[in-house]
Amino acid sequence: MRPLPHLPRRRFLRIAGGSAIILAATTAATSAGFIATRTPDRALAPWNTAGADPDPRIRALSHAILAPNPHNRQPWLVDLSEPGAIGLSCDRTRLLPETDPFDRQIVIGLGCFLEVLRLAAAEDRYQAEITLFPDGVPGPRIDDRPVAIIRMHPDEADPDPLFMQVPHRRSNKEPYDTARPVPEADLAALITAAEGRCRAEGAIAPEKVARLRDLTWRAHRVEALTPAKMKESVDLMRFGKAEINASPDGIDMGGAFLEALNLIGVLTPETLMDPQSDAFYRGLEHYRGLMQSAMGHIWLVTPDNSRTSQIAAGEAWVRTNLTATALGLAIHPLSQALQEYPEMAELAAEANRELGIADGERVQMLARLGYGPGLPPSPRWPLETRITRS
Ligand SMILES: Cc1cc2nc3c(=O)[nH]c(=O)nc-3n(C[C@H](O)[C@H](O)[C@H](O)COP(=O)(O)O)c2cc1C
Repeated sequence: MRPLPHLPRRRFLRIAGGSAIILAATTAATSAGFIATRTPDRALAPWNTAGADPDPRIRALSHAILAPNPHNRQPWLVDLSEPGAIGLSCDRTRLLPETDPFDRQIVIGLGCFLEVLRLAAAEDRYQAEITLFPDGVPGPRIDDRPVAIIRMHPDEADPDPLFMQVPHRRSNKEPYDTARPVPEADLAALITAAEGRCRAEGAIAPEKVARLRDLTWRAHRVEALTPAKMKESVDLMRFGKAEINASPDGIDMGGAFLEALNLIGVLTPETLMDPQSDAFYRGLEHYRGLMQSAMGHIWLVTPDNSRTSQIAAGEAWVRTNLTATALGLAIHPLSQALQEYPEMAELAAEANRELGIADGERVQMLARLGYGPGLPPSPRWPLETRITRS
């Protein structure tokens, strides 16, 4: 294996030592007035308004937009021109060409959307009859043809208890408690949650978890040190309340402390793109800590990499995520080692070996598990911005 690029020695931000910069940020960030006003209420509003509309399609869609999706791009576009039906297509301005060159993860996100839509419709006793790719299946890249047509049939479905978790579900990107193992029965429940959609497997044995901690960390490092890939993420970062409210998608860099670091110029797109900067180094160290705090892993495998398998993986993923929520477990997708670009090829092959993937099969999701802190929801565009009625 090619050696990973060496990180240069660098200065540390001396938080404990009282560096003037950090002191300024900390002072700003801990001022009660600043904290109290930093919540991006407008960007979080869709979590509070879901379900309140006389049209059952809108009620179901208002929950579906809360689905997990890669880089929170929210690539869904819905067409309500046919009464009683919903057309779903992909907004191709929201793709991730660098880290998701074949739109595999974007399609998984659309599968997550469809599954939450189905759960929300069932809560209203509507069966959401989903026909995938009614005008044909896209090729190597997603196109403008519909991803699905959904027809709503009243009085034909029973509620699913997983629906109750939709408002509480998170992708928990915080460090997990390394003193708290994941119970075997909980891992088994997560694996069962994917049943009928795709195969799920998992690990809580310390040796296996240690190898996956290391693999996911090395994959993250490759992504961070490959400038075009890193830039795709940095370009999607929203720093502070005003940016998050203006563009409630992408990577949310909110909260009083991060916003203060941004205001004083320490944490900016420029510093995060500079491998010599403290911000870059600290970002990497932060991620190393996240990967190293994994107390288990789970992965989803499909028999092939067709578009319908990717949708099935999305459906399975959201069910796994909602089941974790019900169990009080934190879960965090770590997709880097599964990505399809040349710099990642060796680690992707290693991931396939480590996860026991047979020829032709595809690992669609890999995530860490553990117990993490409670989190606020992530931003969403209002449903209205994703609807066409033509
Ligand atoms: C296909 C897919 C891949 C994802 N990959 C990652 C990842 O590599 N790293 C990460 O931090 N989050 C990943 N996520 C989680 C998203 O970032 C998250 O769903 C999105 O930011 C919305 O946040 P929420 O799930 O808390 O609502 C992924 C989600 C999906 C559906």
